[in-house]
Amino acid sequence: MRQAIANAVVGDEQKREDPTVLELERRAAELLGQEEAVFLPTATMANEIALRIQTEPGDVLIAEEHSHVFIAEQGGPAVHAGLFTRPLPGYGGRITPEQIRAAMTDPRSGHEPRTRLVALENTHNSSGGRVWSLDEIDAVIAVVRELDLRGHLDGARLLNAARALGVPAAEIGRRFDTVTLCLSKGLGCPLGALVAGSAELMVKARRAKHLFGGAMRQAGIVAAAGVYALDNHVERLADDHARARRLAEGLSAAGIAIDLDAVETNFVQIDVAPFGLTKAEALERLKQEGVGLSGTVHATKLRAVTHLDVSNEDIERAVELIPRALGVLVRA
Ligand SMILES: Cc1ncc(COP(=O)(O)O)c(C=O)c1O
Repeated sequence: MRQAIANAVVGDEQKREDPTVLELERRAAELLGQEEAVFLPTATMANEIALRIQTEPGDVLIAEEHSHVFIAEQGGPAVHAGLFTRPLPGYGGRITPEQIRAAMTDPRSGHEPRTRLVALENTHNSSGGRVWSLDEIDAVIAVVRELDLRGHLDGARLLNAARALGVPAAEIGRRFDTVTLCLSKGLGCPLGALVAGSAELMVKARRAKHLFGGAMRQAGIVAAAGVYALDNHVERLADDHARARRLAEGLSAAGIAIDLDAVETNFVQIDVAPFGLTKAEALERLKQEGVGLSGTVHATKLRAVTHLDVSNEDIERAVELIPRALGVLVRA
């Protein structure tokens, strides 16, 4: 990837003269099952642009309550698009068509805000990298269309979802009006994301990109990493999933209660409540043992993530070190 970055052919991206950015956008549009894609610095910006270009201030955005757009974008939907947010309680990060129907405002009302957009997240970060099946997506999108709403997919980890479902990413992406893909997660790029949609919507996305201060110059330097990742880091996501499974099974065998059915992609969630530890205490103990996990939005749950810098040996070490750090062997 460093070599690809060094060799990148570049031009002025703001003028759409950077051939590497154009190539990445072309590849991403095809990958995501959409007409066009726009290269952006981050997936947060990609989500926020997607919300802004499909709504008007005062419109209602429906999403699962622990979606990234609600819990981790600093209230961006309100700040950047003036949206009124309607968080719905989910099951494994998913919401149902019935919930959307029940949350729907009256489009003919002179008083109620207009419900406009439903945003789904696949895989869903805070539920532990859980996957929406195609049937579940279809059921929600059918209601979105019936109610004349728009559908956005926060597909920051869409390629993990596609891998878990065994379908091309385009099969998932094409069902939505807009799709976000992040390059700096499992794909291993230093930065970068894309938003994709119809050619008409992407004209608006390019304008919003400039407005948000995201229009760049010789951005091919980083887009080259994205092209490299699409060529070399997609198939290997299966390794991350297999390692997460091995980690979950190893920890489970060592006496840590893990919901194995919830381990569908590259995350393993660990509840530290049974060890009488707070998240901060557990993270500190893990750090002392040399294991880097992160917190989650949940009161007592930590998150382990497998990615291209985590090897089989690292997983075996983690299976030894995590129970020790959490005091499992002492209690056994
Ligand atoms: C589901 C989801 N969407 C969007 C983002 C934002 O990504 P970025 O850090 O590129 O802004 C994240 C980051 O963790 C995420 O998990």
